Amino acid sequence: MREMTDHAVITDHVAPAAAAPEKTAVEIRQGTVTCSFPVQTGVLLLDAALERGCGIQYKCRKGTCGACTVDVVSGSEHLSARNRAEQKKLGAAAKRLACQAVMK
Ligand code: FES
Repeated sequence: MREMTDHAVITDHVAPAAAAPEKTAVEIRQGTVTCSFPVQTGVLLLDAALERGCGIQYKCRKGTCGACTVDVVSGSEHLSARNRAEQKKLGAAAKRLACQAVMK
């Protein structure tokens, strides 16, 4: 039989709180590149994508070249309405210019 001592050390192992899962709200695709990120109110789609390391193409950042054209796979309800530059460049196509679309 084992003898109990008065100097027992009790260590509580508490697992660190798991980080809350990030809510993905917007997913975009440009060619073979797909990326998703949470809504950041007031942030351009292009900036949010680049911040996440999403390698989408862009050039002018003014809504004129069309290089940043993306398909919004999900979360389009979190984006601003298409502005004049997008309407002019994209016509009726269901696409967005990442340099013009702002998350709301
Ligand atoms: S980068 Fe040229 S239209 Fe967006």
